[in-house]
Amino acid sequence: MSRQGSSHRPHADLARLIQESMRVAPAPLVPEIQLYTAHPGSGLRRMCEAGSGMPPYWAYQWAGGTVLARFFIDRPQTVRGRRVLDLGAGSGVVGIAAALAGASSVLAAEIDRHAIAALRLNATLNGVAIEVLEHDLLDGAARPEVDLIAVGDLFYDKVLARRTVQFLDRCRAAGIEVLVGDPGRAFLPRNRLRAVADYAVPDFGGAGDRQAPRSAVFAFETLQPGEIANVPAATGGDQGSRVVGAS
Ligand SMILES: C[S@@+](CC[C@H](N)C(=O)[O-])C[C@H]1O[C@@H](n2cnc3c(N)ncnc32)[C@H](O)[C@@H]1O
Repeated sequence: MSRQGSSHRPHADLARLIQESMRVAPAPLVPEIQLYTAHPGSGLRRMCEAGSGMPPYWAYQWAGGTVLARFFIDRPQTVRGRRVLDLGAGSGVVGIAAALAGASSVLAAEIDRHAIAALRLNATLNGVAIEVLEHDLLDGAARPEVDLIAVGDLFYDKVLARRTVQFLDRCRAAGIEVLVGDPGRAFLPRNRLRAVADYAVPDFGGAGDRQAPRSAVFAFETLQPGEIANVPAATGGDQGSRVVGAS
């Protein structure tokens, strides 16, 4: 029997693994979209430990992506006829919603091979076309050729949050609109965000018996000269601040 990790498996094998171990179910709050969804017998942890070792974030419905998907379907004018990038796509729910709502094209940026296999399957399941960018966009100088970037639940880690804010700043400077969906994670750059909609939505890992907390869709705003770009620190002081226009 081969002991080759799934990080080396071709996409077709990963896709088969996902189809065999997960169930198709409507997305919470967005029943218009069907997703391959984890269940107690999925053996996800084993699958990921044997592979890339990355947590199986793509297998769950995150509040941030969920509210963006709901927002796009409720307000199709936000995406209709526009080129959309789903950054940190995971299951692909955000990009799928954008495509269903009439986006002219959808790109999904994702670095986890399992997630890439899953989001391709999910796109097919929902009858939409999504092009996948498999490299890390955040550090490069290149700007994606899109009109709108949708960021679902990407502010859960301090370093990732800082890199994301810097990338989004470059994109905003190039005139690209940015929308963020988030339930209020530790490193959400609140001073850069203006809420445009909010929803009560269950979050992955949340207790099912409690009232669902609210999660919001935010516009990520351009910094004005002299304003401080700040990614909050969950504990201790923040070293992520910088002043725009300061040398
Ligand atoms: C918490 S999940 C959110 C997934 C999805 N946006 C949603 O809301 O359902 C974060 C995802 O971002 C991906 N990710 C992390 N860093 C990334 C990067 N630099 N570029 C692209 N994707 C990244 C992870 O692999 C993971 O699938």
